[in-house]
Amino acid sequence: MPKTIYILNGPNLNLLGKREPEIYGHDTLADVEAQCAAAGAVVGLVIEMMQSNHEGQIVDWIHTARDVAAGIIINPAALTHYSIAVLDALNAFDGPVIEVHISQVHKRESFRHRSYVSLRADAVMAGFGVHGYVLATQHMGHLINDAP
Ligand code: DQA
Repeated sequence: MPKTIYILNGPNLNLLGKREPEIYGHDTLADVEAQCAAAGAVVGLVIEMMQSNHEGQIVDWIHTARDVAAGIIINPAALTHYSIAVLDALNAFDGPVIEVHISQVHKRESFRHRSYVSLRADAVMAGFGVHGYVLATQHMGHLINDAP
């Protein structure tokens, strides 16, 4: 029986592929969704990809995940750097959490170096481009299927 994982995306990631492509690349979120669905199928995971520009919507999806998702992959985008509400919601989720950033945030402005979400995340990817989502999906399979 495949398990469901959520892949949550925060503000402005709906513009992926069009927004600052020199930083975030040319793939769209739909491209990333297809890549993660393929990677998830290999490890017995069904992915549900979501994006919102609204903090409260991300919080609500994390609450829903408590009942339906075995794990959460999240690119909180700018919310990473200031949202205690997203951190608190993730702290109320029991499964594995992987934080993904397309860009290498530690090479960028200092305000991007702080992540509230990292206080909860079991693993963090940064600077792998959108391939980081695929790697995170593969690792989620390991955490859910193989971890003790
Ligand atoms: C991002 C990095 C954040 O600092 C930024 O606000 C984003 C995207 C990334 O994927 O590299 O919107 O999370």
